[in-house]
Amino acid sequence: MPSHTIAVIAGDGIGKEVVPEGIRVLEAAGRKFGIDFRWDELPWSCDYYLEHGRMMPEDGLATIRHHDGIFLGAVGYPTVPDHVSLWGLLIAIRRGFQQYANIRPVRLMPGITSPLRDRLPGDIDFIVVRENSEGEYSAIGGISFEDTDDEVVMQTSVFSRRGVDRIMRYAFELARSRPARQVTSATKSNGMSISMPYWDKRFQLMAERYPDVTPSQFHIDILSAHFVRNPDRFDVVVASNLFGDILSDLGPACTGTIAIAPSANLNPERDFPSMFEPVHGSAPDIHGRNIANPIGQIWSGAMMLDHLGHSQASDAIVRAIETVLTEGPRTPDIGGTATTQELGRAIAEAVSN
Ligand code: NAD
Ligand code: IPM
Ligand code: MN
Repeated sequence: MPSHTIAVIAGDGIGKEVVPEGIRVLEAAGRKFGIDFRWDELPWSCDYYLEHGRMMPEDGLATIRHHDGIFLGAVGYPTVPDHVSLWGLLIAIRRGFQQYANIRPVRLMPGITSPLRDRLPGDIDFIVVRENSEGEYSAIGGISFEDTDDEVVMQTSVFSRRGVDRIMRYAFELARSRPARQVTSATKSNGMSISMPYWDKRFQLMAERYPDVTPSQFHIDILSAHFVRNPDRFDVVVASNLFGDILSDLGPACTGTIAIAPSANLNPERDFPSMFEPVHGSAPDIHGRNIANPIGQIWSGAMMLDHLGHSQASDAIVRAIETVLTEGPRTPDIGGTATTQELGRAIAEAVSN
């Protein structure tokens, strides 16, 4: 029986509530499809920071370097400044393990009503491919003349040829595997006069190598408008770190709720483990009430199974999510009164059937 050792980082807030449901469903899929999991649970979080002064031990990355995957809930809580907690754990893992491709499917699921009029399940089905290792998220910059009227703050974006080309290549390869074969690039080369013209140039050069894929590009402002007005026109959308972050909350909002949106932080070369986590955060506003929707976490588990080579088991989880969304219990964010655990159990049962 195939066996996988998975690092589990539930993290903060509702991460601690939805991760057990993700594991429950993965265990059910494992029983059905003959996959064994070893869960290595790590307490890295804001609570850990308050005790140890760091989000994870100094040798944290080395500890999980040879694990088969990382299953993460959410990081960040009001007890620790966000930039400290996120750079100390989530972003540290993404960068340390070169998880440069952040794959975020946006799909209108059965049983979910889109806030956009007249959109039905199947009408919206695209994937945001977000650059996950450089771009606008950089640690390069600083403050000059601090606390004076001359104070100046700078933060430099970084776009390396290697970094840009590899995410473009990933997006075009992905598009090639999909029926519509389209890649849309998010740019802003009218306002950002150095980085984004470069981004456009690399996009164009990569597009020439994929004549079977239709390229298009939009500035991020109008692209956001198109997400709302014409979400059915998109297939694969490639974006820089910040633009991709924004688009991957906007897309799921157009498909009803960010609570069900999954993501994979991939190191496609498999030199390092990849990480699977919902798009949403730790939701401190609802933490402790057992009403968090666990579907984003559970669907992220399905993406992990697919990455580990178990596509049948992965599909079974996605189908179980669709079944339960159509006829099962619902958490309050999608109009029901069910608890996190009731929804998790219903999906685990649907997987087992
Ligand atoms: P958030 O995604 O945590 O919450 C936004 C809103 O969506 C809240 O009203 C919340 O209740 C709701 N929501 C989110 N997930 C839900 C779920 N599963 N079920 C039901 N409702 C859900 O975003 P935020 O409030 O901007 O961030 C809170 C904290 O999480 C911050 O510290 C932020 O930095 C962090 N964060 C972490 C990640 C991550 O770990 N990947 C992602 C986003 C935000
Ligand atoms: C996400 C989150 C993170 C990001 C934050 C918490 C740093 O919003 O995973 O989408 O911007 O990447
Ligand atoms: Mn985000």
